[in-house]
Amino acid sequence: MSSSQSLVFAINGERFELSSVDPSTTLLEFLRTRTTFKGAKLGCGEGGCGACVVLLSKYDPVSGEVEDKSVSSCLTLLCAIHLCSITTSEGLAITTGDRFHAVHRRLAGFHASQCGFCSPGVCVSIFAALAAADRSSPPPPEGHSNLPAAAAAEAISGNLCRCTGYRPIVDACRSFAVDFDLEDLGVNAFWRRGAAAADLLPRYAAAAVCTFPDFLKTEAAASASVAASLQIQQSWYAPRSLKELRRILLAASSEARIKLVSGNTSAGVHRDLNRYDSYVDLGGISELTGIKHGDGNEFLEIGGAVSISSAIEALEEDGDAVFGKLAAHMKKVASPFVRNTASIGGNLVLAQRGNFPSDMATILLAAGASIALAVDAGTIDLSLENFFKLPPVDRREILVNVRIPRGVNNGGAVSFFETFRAAPRPLGNAIAYVNAAFSVLVNNGHVESSRLVFGAYGTRHATRAKNVEEFIAGKKINARVILEAIQILRQEIIPDQGTKHADYRVSAAVGFLFKFLSHLEEEHVKNQWDIIPSQISSTKFHNNQDLIQDRSLTSRQDIEEGVDFQPVGQALKKVGAELQASGEAVYVDDIPSPPGCLYSAFVYGDRPSAINEVKLGEMDKVVAYITAADIPAGGKNVGAAGFTGDSPLFGVGAADCAGQPLGIVVAETQKVANFCAQKAEIVYGGALVPPPIMSVEEAEERSSFFELPPFMKPPTEIGDFKEGVNAAEEKILSAEVVLGSQYYFYMETQTALAVPDEDGCIVVYGSLQVPEDTQHIIAKCLGVPSHNVRVITRRVGGGFGGKAFRGMPVAVACALAAHKLRRPVRMYLDRKTDMVMAGGRHPMKVTYSVWFKHTGKITALETKILIDAGSTRDISPALPINIAGTLKKYDWGATWMEFKVCRTNLPSRSAMRAPGEVQGSFIAEAIVEHVAVVLKVDPEAVRAINMHTYNSFQQFYTAAAGTPLGFTLPMVVDRVAEVAEWQRRREEVNVFNQSSRWVKRGISHIPVVMPVTVRSTPARVAILGDGSIVVEVGGVELGQGLWTKAAQMTAFSLGQLFDGRIDLLERVRVMQADTLSLVQGGYTAGSTTSESSCAAVQLACAELVSRLLPLKNSLLQLSDSLSWESLIQQAKFKSVNLSSGMLFKPEPDAVMYVNYGAAISEVEVDLLTGMTTILRSDLVYDGGKSLNPAVDLGQIEGAFVQGIGFFMCEEYLTNKDGLVTSDGTWTYKIPTVDNIPREFNVELLSSGPHQQRVLSSKASGEPPLLLSLSVHCATRAAIRAAREDLSLSPVFQLDVPATMPVVKKLCGFDNIETHLRAAISQSP
Ligand SMILES: Cc1cc2nc3c(=O)[nH]c(=O)nc-3n(C[C@H](O)[C@H](O)[C@H](O)COP(=O)(O)OP(=O)(O)OC[C@H]3O[C@@H](n4cnc5c(N)ncnc54)[C@H](O)[C@@H]3O)c2cc1C
Ligand code: FES
Ligand code: FES
Repeated sequence: MSSSQSLVFAINGERFELSSVDPSTTLLEFLRTRTTFKGAKLGCGEGGCGACVVLLSKYDPVSGEVEDKSVSSCLTLLCAIHLCSITTSEGLAITTGDRFHAVHRRLAGFHASQCGFCSPGVCVSIFAALAAADRSSPPPPEGHSNLPAAAAAEAISGNLCRCTGYRPIVDACRSFAVDFDLEDLGVNAFWRRGAAAADLLPRYAAAAVCTFPDFLKTEAAASASVAASLQIQQSWYAPRSLKELRRILLAASSEARIKLVSGNTSAGVHRDLNRYDSYVDLGGISELTGIKHGDGNEFLEIGGAVSISSAIEALEEDGDAVFGKLAAHMKKVASPFVRNTASIGGNLVLAQRGNFPSDMATILLAAGASIALAVDAGTIDLSLENFFKLPPVDRREILVNVRIPRGVNNGGAVSFFETFRAAPRPLGNAIAYVNAAFSVLVNNGHVESSRLVFGAYGTRHATRAKNVEEFIAGKKINARVILEAIQILRQEIIPDQGTKHADYRVSAAVGFLFKFLSHLEEEHVKNQWDIIPSQISSTKFHNNQDLIQDRSLTSRQDIEEGVDFQPVGQALKKVGAELQASGEAVYVDDIPSPPGCLYSAFVYGDRPSAINEVKLGEMDKVVAYITAADIPAGGKNVGAAGFTGDSPLFGVGAADCAGQPLGIVVAETQKVANFCAQKAEIVYGGALVPPPIMSVEEAEERSSFFELPPFMKPPTEIGDFKEGVNAAEEKILSAEVVLGSQYYFYMETQTALAVPDEDGCIVVYGSLQVPEDTQHIIAKCLGVPSHNVRVITRRVGGGFGGKAFRGMPVAVACALAAHKLRRPVRMYLDRKTDMVMAGGRHPMKVTYSVWFKHTGKITALETKILIDAGSTRDISPALPINIAGTLKKYDWGATWMEFKVCRTNLPSRSAMRAPGEVQGSFIAEAIVEHVAVVLKVDPEAVRAINMHTYNSFQQFYTAAAGTPLGFTLPMVVDRVAEVAEWQRRREEVNVFNQSSRWVKRGISHIPVVMPVTVRSTPARVAILGDGSIVVEVGGVELGQGLWTKAAQMTAFSLGQLFDGRIDLLERVRVMQADTLSLVQGGYTAGSTTSESSCAAVQLACAELVSRLLPLKNSLLQLSDSLSWESLIQQAKFKSVNLSSGMLFKPEPDAVMYVNYGAAISEVEVDLLTGMTTILRSDLVYDGGKSLNPAVDLGQIEGAFVQGIGFFMCEEYLTNKDGLVTSDGTWTYKIPTVDNIPREFNVELLSSGPHQQRVLSSKASGEPPLLLSLSVHCATRAAIRAAREDLSLSPVFQLDVPATMPVVKKLCGFDNIETHLRAAISQSP
């Protein structure tokens, strides 16, 4: 075999040649550690988030064509890109010679980048979709793309964004389409409303980006002519034929650890920690890469190494109806950038080896596919069914190709083929709970034969339901046959022991069969269906599927820009948004490693237990193992601050809970550190004493609570509770609701870099919401004064509260290791460790009793809330006051609230966006809905009668209630009813539900009330000699637009020197947070940091104005005009102090104020799968006089979608030992573009003036999250309608999150049988 010994490729037009490479190196690892390109980010390492997406381009020397496709660089192996070209987000601009590409500029201009960590990946996904569309002829009209607007959501369907809520990203993408009305695009920085014009958009030229440099074309052509296969040392082989492959495998010793790879995407499926001696790439083997039609065009043969994307194209091109259905289903497998490399063969081999919930296996089995398998003795043909019966294939067996037969329509027999899938994200990027595919041959109204296949429901392989197949054979389909078929199916598909949601999976499978057979009957058999009441087969039954397929999104945003304090109040784009989009923005992990830098990873236990020892394997690779024993004399074992006490950095001799760090492994690379930490063996030493507490009930029983300091205790009683109880006519006693947790899923996991400095000092770069406290904790841990510790935070790739106290341990651990080893030490948590250690939102158990009148007026409410704080205090003591703050949203007459902050041996919980407030609001709505059900009235009637008046509001909120003018709640509630056409749509929903059996709708209208606290915050504004301005603020830029607002405030405030007639905005730069430069920085949390930072900036600027004004006036006496530059030059010359630092301190009666909003959401629930589709959400939020309405709009939409995650889809679960089991993108599903409302309307109400608020502005970071409760309440309404049909009790609690299994269960796991039996019994 001739071989090339070097790996050659290009990145952003730059040539790379490597003669030796560790074959396990991923493209992402190479990009981030060996190049200057940092646009591709590590978000998950599993193919599940899209942060690492790059463009991979291949050149075909024969056709001269370049093929571009997006791929996840975290899964793509470096050696697999031989003679390929890679374009990262920064490369989109580099190769055009411009600083930013139109994609970057439009993403920024549509306000679609907040923290920005997802943005480079999003840009590449968008660009890849444009490039693919524009390859087609005819070329797109100038400035546009051929990408249809409707395909915009598909383009970004695999990219997670935790900040924006996706709507603006979709708008940025469809701004390129020709078939889209510019007027319908969302708020953007290119035009004001009504002024939309294509030439205002940054120019897009379809073929401007050179994705494949000429030099590489020449090399690729030369290599093709030699037809040589690649071999890099003894570690990477890329044979070109099966024969060569066999030779390589035969030459290897039997002990050699060889990994065959095709797309290597299975690395995202199984976190494979094994090490291999060599890799063999199947992707270049000619027998595995072809697609052709078989003899007589009876089947399509697809090579085993063909990507799923290419298979989809071939199937669609063919035009066969069955192929079309297969392609449509395949488009729901993973995401575009995974499908682009994931091979059909790799998928089927994963499925064959067992326990992989494959879609391909299910649909291809139903289609009657067969495979060719190369074994030692030659190539054998096997049906897929028989392939699955073989023992798991090993490295000597190669799946050469798959043959898919066409649908049969002959001799009067008609074939029907359909596929189904129930998954948390309807259109992809989520493994199915269950999938199915059915192929049925019907002859003369009778079933001739069938293949009914079910997969992913908890068995080794997809299986045929043969008993059902036998049963229906020869029969005409009718209700009785369907019922019996379903009953047989229930006996036939039995999930393995321990399968999660087993009942749900079976029930959804039953739903698929029912849907298919009844559709078949209705459309094609037409015999005895009339024995079933018509609503069973109502038309909506099928239309729902159309709804799922339809990805079109509509939206409306109403904002009002302020004119009084310009540029404050203007909807300016976020500072640095283009930098973020292009990948130029520097996050902690993008800071180049200093010389001698080491890398570290946490070792943690998987249960609360005494610990005897931690054994590290591969000690030769470990530079150090740092534990509490390494804390220097005078230092303390502290890792994080808390509201009322610190928590330890490392467990000593014991772990209080699963996930508690015990030490850190330090190594020469992050990969080795992670590997050694994961392989560490913990020798447990028996149970903790006293025994661990694993639930809030146990904590209560054993009186294990964290004490609340008096100032954190909410009042127990409001109003006269006894009197309220006595005034009631009805009551509900001791009802219970339980709330789960939620994980932050910031796209950038916890990270820090600590660099030791002279004289015992240290500089720590952290991704932190609380740099100041982190500084003090590091100092405390090291036993040094705080002035020895400088903590710097430039920007944070998403925080949501998780980088407040939970961000500290990473920074402290790095600092400790750096201090001890006298070398820089960094850490970037892998997603799993981050999820295990993060803690997240507080779970809680609520018991309530409520007393009310027949009118629905509630007179008294008693709540007892057990909060699971976990093992340390953290923020938990603040929870009661936060919960109470929103629980009081209604006028309960009188309340009695009891809170217990339970200390358990579960992971310590922390602040997450609206901590406690979101639960408080939920509890209030659960109570209102319960009362409504008991009284048999609409929940909205109970809401209305218990809505606060200003008087009752004052009673419940005392000083925070503000003035009557500022009490805009009633106005906001009415406004949303008006814009959402509440009355009409509520009626329509009722009408719909009466005629729809299998799809129910629900609509809900809820108010939001949330107090926030304003804290003191510093700022410093300095004017440099050239007139440029530098601003430091206490808060940290998390994506919330703090820097943008601070810059606007600086420009406005200093502009006062010239009566506001000068635009200083371009001269302002807001600096990173630096704890030694600006002290008392405080927390960036609680939604008010932007406004208080702006207030401090305003003060600092006012001081500068007062210093400069006399000079300005004196200069103007000498000259008619004065420029900013001249003023500053003169000021410098005259030694005017051009730097001003101020601490803003709110007035005592302005410390707390209340925010108002209201939402109406309408959902549709598919009763067969439990899937909830949000048809429309209308939000109205009172932002006061917004400092920047575009930024605030982004906060509202982003928070709302994050709330949808909490209420509807994010299950943050632990096992019995408290170890987090939702530990990656596979098991934890945040919303994607597929989960957002189909119609999403937001109005940012401009109210005010508001005395004591910063220029009359109000908070926007957290309160809008509570608006998403409307989706949960609407889902409850839809379920109620479903239960009414089944005569089930209307009293039920809808858990949070209301996942598909939860919803389906409440709609009845056996609802189909119930309906069928009822129908049959009524038939003649
Ligand atoms: C984020 C994500 C989401 C996903 N979602 C879904 C989903 O919803 N539904 C679904 O069905 N799948 C899903 N997948 C799985 C995906 O389809 C498979 O990972 C992929 O098809 C495997 O192909 P590959 O070429 O990358 O295989 P590789 O990872 O390269 O190989 C997988 C295994 O198969 C072996 N192998 C590969 N090709 C052959 C061959 N021709 N002959 C013999 N052995 C071979 C390899 O040795 C290896 O052990 C998802 C994957 C990811 C990463
Ligand atoms: S980091 Fe590659 S997909 Fe998440
Ligand atoms: S902007 Fe998308 S994750 Fe922050």
